[in-house]
This record gives sequence, C-alpha cells and structure tokens, in this order.
Amino acid sequence: MIKHLVSSGQFKDSRMLEEIFQRTDEWERWDQAGTLPKPLQDKVIACLFFEPSTRTRFSFETAALKLGAKVISSENAGQFGSSSKGETLEDTIRVVNGYADAIVMRHYIQGAARRAARVSEVPIINAGDGAGEHPTQALLDFYTMRKELGKIEGLRIALVGDLLYGRTVHSLLNLAMLYKSCQFFLISPPRLAVPQKIRAEMQARGVKFRELQDFGEILGKIDVLYMTRVQKERFASENDYNQVKDVYQVDKALLRKLNKQAIIMHPLPRITEIAPEVDHDKRAAYFRQAKNGLYLRMAILEMLVR
Ligand code: CP
Repeated sequence: MIKHLVSSGQFKDSRMLEEIFQRTDEWERWDQAGTLPKPLQDKVIACLFFEPSTRTRFSFETAALKLGAKVISSENAGQFGSSSKGETLEDTIRVVNGYADAIVMRHYIQGAARRAARVSEVPIINAGDGAGEHPTQALLDFYTMRKELGKIEGLRIALVGDLLYGRTVHSLLNLAMLYKSCQFFLISPPRLAVPQKIRAEMQARGVKFRELQDFGEILGKIDVLYMTRVQKERFASENDYNQVKDVYQVDKALLRKLNKQAIIMHPLPRITEIAPEVDHDKRAAYFRQAKNGLYLRMAILEMLVR
C-alpha cells in the first residue's frame, strides 16, 4: 500500500499500474457520461507549487474538484508562502497537515518530496522535484501509450532530448523496469545523457536500451517518439544552455521518416523541439496525453486520499 507518492520506483509490479489504468478509463467514461461519483466529498487537497506549472497543477485541481474535494492552492509558494520568510519546508508541511487531507507539491529542490513525506501525516504527491522525478507524469505517459497503441508490452520507445535534467524521463525509466519486453532508445547529446545511477539500474534489471546521439536511423522502427524540452532552468549558465537547446527538432520533413503507426509524445511545455505544423498530424498525441493526466490524477487521488 502506497501512502506517499514520491517516486515511480515505488511501483514494483505492472499489475498495480494496470489497475490504475483501468480506473483511469472508468473516470473518463463516467465524466463523459455525466455520472461522476464523488468519493472525496469533505476532503481538502492542498496544491503547493514552488515552481511554475500549467498541466500538473490545473489537472490535479480539476481532478480533486471532479472527485468532490475542495482545493486550497499556492501557485507560487516560494514567493507568497512563508518559506520567503525563512520557514523550512518541513514546518510548512507540518502546518498544511492541519488543513488538508493530501498535499500535491512541486519544488525546485531534488528530494524535496521525500523530505516532505518524512514529516507528513497526510499523503504527499510529488508533482515534480527539481531534476529528480515526476511520477504522475510517467504514469500518464505509459497510460497514453496503452490507450493510443493498445498495449505497452513490446513497444519500441525513443526518449529524445534532455535526459539528464528531465524528471519525467527519470520517472518513466523507473517504470521501464516493469516492462522488460519494451526496447528503449535514449537519444541525447553526451552532456545531457541519462544519469549514471539510472543507467546502472536499468542494466542491472535487464532493461533493453541503446544510447544514441542522432534519431534519424531509428525513426522508421519505433512506436513512440517521446520528445522533451531542454530544461533551461537547470543549467548553470545561459551559454551552456544555448549550446544544446535546439539540438533535436521534429518538423514535417522529419515526419516523413517516422513509422506511420508511431505516436509522438511530449510532457509539455514544448519550445522548439516540435514545430507547430506537426500538431495536425494524427500521430501527434501530446495534447491527448495532457488530457489523460486529468483522469489518471483522479485515479491517483482516489487511491491515496481516504
Ligand atoms: N508536464 C508538466 O509537468 O507540465 P507543467 O510543468 O505545465 O505542469
């Protein structure tokens, strides 16, 4: 039983994910039929965001409201919360424990969600901790593959871009350990390669992967092209960022080389890595992916908040 969701590595079994995915399907069906149950009536969900967000915060808040809960929210907790006066994260969490039944938290410090979970009596849901993890994004990513392609097993998945700082990629690769029939292509410049710790764990757990710098040769044989933004906010200098920021770009010309049955995913926001002209291609799944986050997060809130 999971109390706090701080890492996708907490999921040890793909059957557990399948249960969440089936529940996600149900929440979408009920929402579309106008027959939503309200299991979280009288509950309060706190959203504490110390870093900017559009999708994660709004989808969690919408999910909570659709489940019947009430929401208290700080979209800029670093500036408007009492951490600006010197309050520790731990004290903030202890205090919000007195008001809310669960805390959805995004923080710029890697490991912040784990610190919060250590002192929290109510569930902490990691909505992104620095360059660490973003577990609910990884869940909705695999859910999207299952929904779009009908299965997860056996998929050939290319992760492209900033694999060093991209927390969605880290959480996704933690879940990759549960899908050993999948094959992963990790495509990045050498200085944005997957952290050594994750690579070593994948090797130890027998996950099939190859690291490449160019995605040209594999476009025709993959099922999922998962693009990522180069995470400007994690770089020490603008100059370092400028050297790698536009390294991979998907446009109409490149689409011609992509497997006709493949899907293009992106956790969003995108900057230059997918041209807007790609949006009209039926393989562009990233806005559907973002919508899936709502129902997946309904399933997560229902599971954790009692
Ligand atoms: N994918 C994602 O985390 O988006 P936001 O930063 O808008 O929440």
